[in-house]
Amino acid sequence: MDFDLSQTTPQQAYSLLNGLVVPRPIAWITTLDLHGKVNAAPFSAYNYVGTDPPLVAIGVGNRPGPAIVGKDTAQNIRNTREFVINIVTEELGQAMNLCGIEFPPGVDELAIAGLETEPSKLVAVPRIRRSPASLECREVTTMEIGRSRVILGQVVSVYVRDEFVDPTGPYIRADQMHTIGRMNGLGNYVRTRDAFFQIPRETYQEWQKKRGTA
Ligand SMILES: Cc1cc2nc3c(=O)[nH]c(=O)nc-3n(C[C@H](O)[C@H](O)[C@H](O)COP(=O)(O)O)c2cc1C
Repeated sequence: MDFDLSQTTPQQAYSLLNGLVVPRPIAWITTLDLHGKVNAAPFSAYNYVGTDPPLVAIGVGNRPGPAIVGKDTAQNIRNTREFVINIVTEELGQAMNLCGIEFPPGVDELAIAGLETEPSKLVAVPRIRRSPASLECREVTTMEIGRSRVILGQVVSVYVRDEFVDPTGPYIRADQMHTIGRMNGLGNYVRTRDAFFQIPRETYQEWQKKRGTA
């Protein structure tokens, strides 16, 4: 089956992309509003897109309704230019999902989810205490493309709970963190617990040697 995306509705395009760009990491984003109140919401249109400088990109949609008004997270990032991405583990899945409810502005999602925060190192926005790792970010730019919105942020500080850091790299003990990923938007997620397997990277020389063409 082929889908010409010029003929589909945004909802259909969403369903197709949401089911094919998988599994997706989840950025559980904390921000501050202009009164200093913390907001928290999950976003899976998310990845890192550079390391020098360290960049992340997030697709944040509009509030439900006909007007093009960014969700609270996007508005807060425009206003304060700071945000924190908190990593979501299996045990935090339900709390993260609560923060995805379209609450009206000003609602304290973290209080509803029974979560506390910790101060960040370099930004005023706090991180979620129970999250095993957090990325402190500053907005580089927000691009409005049609009715979509891409936020580009620079990661300025990283917190990782000690037990998940192998200091030799430093590497992240990702196989022990039990993060979850989002699948096709029907409430489906994947676990990473006991799901790791290896495909070692080969150099060109190793590949040639194996084929006997060196
Ligand atoms: C796992 C998950 C991933 C989500 N990913 C996105 C996303 O990438 N972009 C988006 O606009 N909304 C996404 N949402 C919906 C937002 O979290 C939801 O609209 C939230 O209420 C926005 O909160 P805010 O207005 O406080 O920013 C996601 C929801 C869940 C549960």
